[in-house]
Amino acid sequence: MADWTELERRCAQCKRCSLCDSRTNVVFGTGLRSAEVMFVGEGPGENEDLQGEPFVGRGGQLLDSMLSLIDLDRKRNFYITNIVKCRPPQNRDPLNTEQDACFPYLEEQISLIRPRIIVCLGRVAAMRLIKPDFKITQEHGQWFRRGDAYITAIYHPAALLRDPTKRPETFADLRAIRAKIREVCESTYR
Ligand code: URA
Repeated sequence: MADWTELERRCAQCKRCSLCDSRTNVVFGTGLRSAEVMFVGEGPGENEDLQGEPFVGRGGQLLDSMLSLIDLDRKRNFYITNIVKCRPPQNRDPLNTEQDACFPYLEEQISLIRPRIIVCLGRVAAMRLIKPDFKITQEHGQWFRRGDAYITAIYHPAALLRDPTKRPETFADLRAIRAKIREVCESTYR
C-alpha cells in the first residue's frame, strides 16, 4: 500500500483525465491524517484550485463555522478532501469518467486514514460513496455502513448558501454526527 508522500506525489503529477489541463493546483486534501472523522466533497472550485486546499471559499468558510459548533477543526480533528482532486471547469459536476479516474486516490486516502466516520458533503459524494441512487433531500442525515466506517451525508455548503431554509436540517444532522462521534470515536473529542 502507498504511503502519504508517494500518494501525494502521484496525485500532483496525475494526468488520468483532462481536468489536469486546466488546473492550477491539485487539491489533494488537508487536515489530520490520523483523524477518525473524514469529510468528502465533490471537487475543487476556483478558490480551491488557486490555493490548493479544499473548501476555502465562501462555502468552506460556512462549513468551518458550522463544524466549529460541534468542536470540529480541520487543523485538529478531521480530514477533508474531494471525490475529484482537480477543478471541473465552470464548477460543473465532475463527469463520471473524471470521478472514475480520480476515485482510486480517495480510496487510498481512506485506506491510510481508516476513519470511523465519513461525512459526504452533498449529492455527488453520497452517490459515489454511499449508493448510486442516493437522494440527498430524503436521505441526508441517515447512517449507512461502508466497510468499518459509519457514513452519512449532509447538504453541500453551496446548497446551504443558495437556500438557507435547509440550514436547520443540517444543524440537526450535525448534532447527530456529534452524537455518533461520541459513540464510536476515541480521540476526536479528547
Ligand atoms: N466544493 C467542493 O465540493 N469541494 C471544495 O473543495 C470546494 C467546493
